[in-house]
Amino acid sequence: MAIMANSFEEVISLIKDRLDIVDVVSQYVVLKKSGANYWGLCPFHNDKKPSMSVSPSKGIYKCFSCGAGGDALSFLVKIQNREYKDVILELAEKYGIELPQKFHSSKENKNQKKEMISACEKAAKFYKLQLKTAEDANKAMSYLKGRDITDDIIDKFTLGWAPNKYDTLYKELKKEFKDEILEKAGLILKSNSGGWIDRFRNRIIIPIQNENGEFVAFGARAVDEGQNPKYLNSSDSLIYNKSKILFGLNSAQDAIKAEDGVIIMEGYFDVISAQAHGVGNAVASCGTALTPEHVKLLSRYTKSRRIYLSFDTDTAGINATKKGSAVIKETLSALGNIKQFDESHISSNTDNKYACEIRVVSQPEGKDPDEFIRTTGADAFKTYVKNAPLLIDFLLNNILKDKNSAKTPQEKAELVNQIIEVLKDVNNKIIQSEYVKMVSTVIDVDENAMLKELANHREFGEYAQVGNKKLVTNSSQFEIKAQKNLLSVFLANDSSLSFKQLNELLPENIIQDETLIIVKNTIDKLVCTINNVKELTKSLYTEFIEDDNLTQILTDIVELSEAFNGLEPAEFERAVKENIVRLKRCYQEKETEEIRRKYKQVNDDDIEALRIQMQLRDKIKLRTGDK
Ligand code: UTP
Ligand code: MN
Repeated sequence: MAIMANSFEEVISLIKDRLDIVDVVSQYVVLKKSGANYWGLCPFHNDKKPSMSVSPSKGIYKCFSCGAGGDALSFLVKIQNREYKDVILELAEKYGIELPQKFHSSKENKNQKKEMISACEKAAKFYKLQLKTAEDANKAMSYLKGRDITDDIIDKFTLGWAPNKYDTLYKELKKEFKDEILEKAGLILKSNSGGWIDRFRNRIIIPIQNENGEFVAFGARAVDEGQNPKYLNSSDSLIYNKSKILFGLNSAQDAIKAEDGVIIMEGYFDVISAQAHGVGNAVASCGTALTPEHVKLLSRYTKSRRIYLSFDTDTAGINATKKGSAVIKETLSALGNIKQFDESHISSNTDNKYACEIRVVSQPEGKDPDEFIRTTGADAFKTYVKNAPLLIDFLLNNILKDKNSAKTPQEKAELVNQIIEVLKDVNNKIIQSEYVKMVSTVIDVDENAMLKELANHREFGEYAQVGNKKLVTNSSQFEIKAQKNLLSVFLANDSSLSFKQLNELLPENIIQDETLIIVKNTIDKLVCTINNVKELTKSLYTEFIEDDNLTQILTDIVELSEAFNGLEPAEFERAVKENIVRLKRCYQEKETEEIRRKYKQVNDDDIEALRIQMQLRDKIKLRTGDK
């Protein structure tokens, strides 16, 4: 019998009641019981020994190696790498949970989506037919021939022609589809006079298919001199989200898996030429920069997450390479280290010990992949792919290109600065020093001086440059831990204090970490209507369902709450207060260091120095009086 839910939150809540963390994780991971918990190999990084624990009593999983963590639902969302809403809708159907009225429209949505996809497919085929039949088809065909596009390629990519008339497509498709569907699919527009006209006119049509090969959108290239924009693209719609779709992925899937690597290019025609000439693992974003969603999508297909960036070799292309690689690094860094050094220079045997590997294909200056492949051949391109340097080597080479123009000490220092920008991201110190050794020889600067510059650079930006650096770093980790501890009291199972009483225990502004403030504010919001720990935990996970980072932090807090279980009320309070006192001391220490640092920067005879000196004295007095 179906259960009726009144809100989407209730649907989630009902689903969560039915999900057992051990059952859910077991579908993907072999779990072994040990004590109260279960252990298994973490599926979110390349785990060698079981680092992931599953706690049936707390309903959470947590990897002690890579930090992944969450409840049963967030596990499913993460491992399936899907929209959480889709996962929820599917589970609701599975458990016979009736969706609230407004979500019935999602059924309507489904139909609409189907219609839109069908309209796009019909449109693609119709446009293709126009290449043969339209009055102005000759112009289109000679444009394509000029780009070495053969009939086979036209077939493979369903390339087409939108004639230079107002309603060629509309006249055809209105026989079968409602105006509303055609408009939503982005195929037609309201004209000034109120009628419908085709959106794409006088353009070569490049249909965009999703992963499943469904037609969902179009890119349309200008053919006339001065016709703007060069590419007109479909806007986002119910069936098309630019930041989640990659052009060519549907036909590239097998090659990406087989090569265990993917080549990201800039343009539609780059991908078309590449795939047509046997470089099967090429994709491109559709008129937008690379997004984290694109990266996640690709990492589903390549086990080793080896990503080649093959952009234009001009300045714009190099900037796109920098931006794109930053997105990749940020998206995948949670999975471990990024490969930063070629141990063997033979990249074919995949050892898969890195979160990802970013390489840059840089064919000779001035040619984009499309032109290069057509003029020089796919084999030559493949050689460039095979020898593609790691991102870091590419960036260094790119800087070192100018090495001969740097002659004066100042010019050399500037060059070193640029190099340090690249090398500071290398986390392995041995590898880093290898690079320093290499580079310092090439540009003829002192290796030790460069190492020192690098070390300075690393310290810069941390809040305190004085005192024992290690101590400072530890204290900030301690700070985070202590703040998490304080939040975890809200999730401790058997405290005798109400949420309100707990809140009164905590001084104002005791939580200072930006992310933890979000957690605290969410707790504050939820406890207005929730009065037990289990519900609070569940609702917090629901609130954070779209944010992996918050979900992980919440899991840390749930873990920490364990320590507060089974304490006598007096003990409990003492533990909380202890954390508060230590945290306050930390904050004060930090503030004092900050003032000290400022003091060091001003001249002794400066009036500013006197002011800071007094501030410092007050702080220290305050602290000693505090004890
Ligand atoms: P480019 O300007 O490098 O074009 O834009 P291209 O791919 O080399 O195109 P051809 O070879 O001259 O035909 C790269 C990509 O940026 C997007 C398109 O996805 C294009 O393939 N773009 C470019 C747009 O969406 N709109 C534009 O007006 C231009
Ligand atoms: Mn280009």
